[in-house]
Amino acid sequence: MGSIYKNGIGVSIFGESHGEAIGGVIDGFPSGVEIDMDHILWLMDRRRPGKNKMSTTRKETDIPRILSGVFNGFTTGTPISFVIENNNKKSKDYSKLMNTPRPSHGDYSGLIKYKGFNDYRGGGHFSGRLTAPIVFIGALCEQVLNSNGIKVFSKVESIGGIYDTDIESLDAFDIRKLRNKKLPLLSDEIGKKIEESIEEVRKQGDSIGGSVKTYIVGLKAGLGNPIFDNIEGHLARLLFSVPGIKSVEFGLGKDFARSKGSEVNDEFYYENGIVKTYTNNNGGINGGISNGMPIVHTVAMKPTPSIFKNQRTVDLKTGENVDLQIEGRHDPCIVPRAIPVIEAISSIGILDLLVKEGELR
Ligand SMILES: Cc1cc2nc3c(=O)[nH]c(=O)nc-3n(C[C@H](O)[C@H](O)[C@H](O)COP(=O)(O)O)c2cc1C
Repeated sequence: MGSIYKNGIGVSIFGESHGEAIGGVIDGFPSGVEIDMDHILWLMDRRRPGKNKMSTTRKETDIPRILSGVFNGFTTGTPISFVIENNNKKSKDYSKLMNTPRPSHGDYSGLIKYKGFNDYRGGGHFSGRLTAPIVFIGALCEQVLNSNGIKVFSKVESIGGIYDTDIESLDAFDIRKLRNKKLPLLSDEIGKKIEESIEEVRKQGDSIGGSVKTYIVGLKAGLGNPIFDNIEGHLARLLFSVPGIKSVEFGLGKDFARSKGSEVNDEFYYENGIVKTYTNNNGGINGGISNGMPIVHTVAMKPTPSIFKNQRTVDLKTGENVDLQIEGRHDPCIVPRAIPVIEAISSIGILDLLVKEGELR
């Protein structure tokens, strides 16, 4: 049951890229939350395809229709269900993928798993389109987190090996300004270089990967658990549900492996009676439990699997090795559209944790 998640809250996602609609159900969401549809639609719009050259030309309106769980503009506490119509389908582009799976996509593994009955059109249930319901659910969760003093935001760390500058201080950091950018990163100069490199890759019919850094600010110390129910594992499990994410790191991540304790230990100090750490190399988590510093994680997104260059694959009908020329509409780089999805899944994970531990105000 890979598309159903149940912990503090329950979340299920349904649909296929070229089916009638996609959507989801959220169970256990707090009652009495006033729905801010403008904010939700703004967040959904950040993920929406067809807005610029960095994204696929598929045009979708992505307006969720809420079917239950909201009454007079407030959540009722009973399951919230919603659908998002698929309006812009071009299924003929994908017909040959049934027998010649795309390298690095879910075509082959999905076909084997579902014994050939999977809806392969547009990647079916494995499509990036299935992240639209995640953004809607995450937007609802974000509203609750914000009213509990918690902020979640992501930025481009790197694309194609070009790195943005790091945030020096989160104090008074303008999250809204960052989020309003087409490419949410700090340096406009680096942003321009990255855009040029994505455009270059697009012209070559290729794709490029990148990394995304996320900050969860305002979470108090003492949440989470040691050993099996640690926060890293909890968030990583959810983050890996975003298609295309291939690594998750917390704080300094794999750079710990080449460091000395004296260089990377997060030393404590008091600030106005609150225990803080001078550095945050552990990304806000020690022993699986929050330490009161921002939770910081970084994910690596692979290059979009569907590229327009010639690739080698197999013909499952004839049993031969063949060449594949992909058609259809694909992002040359997943990162820009994945950013709101990574924020959303992180918000879902944190709300889930707070509900489970009875820590919501
Ligand atoms: C927002 C978003 C958009 C995506 N768009 C595309 C796309 O246009 N073409 C494509 O081949 N893959 C796209 N992907 C990635 C595939 O869905 C993903 O690589 C595939 O399902 C296989 O899963 P895996 O990479 O996690 O193994 C997208 C992913 C996300 C998060």
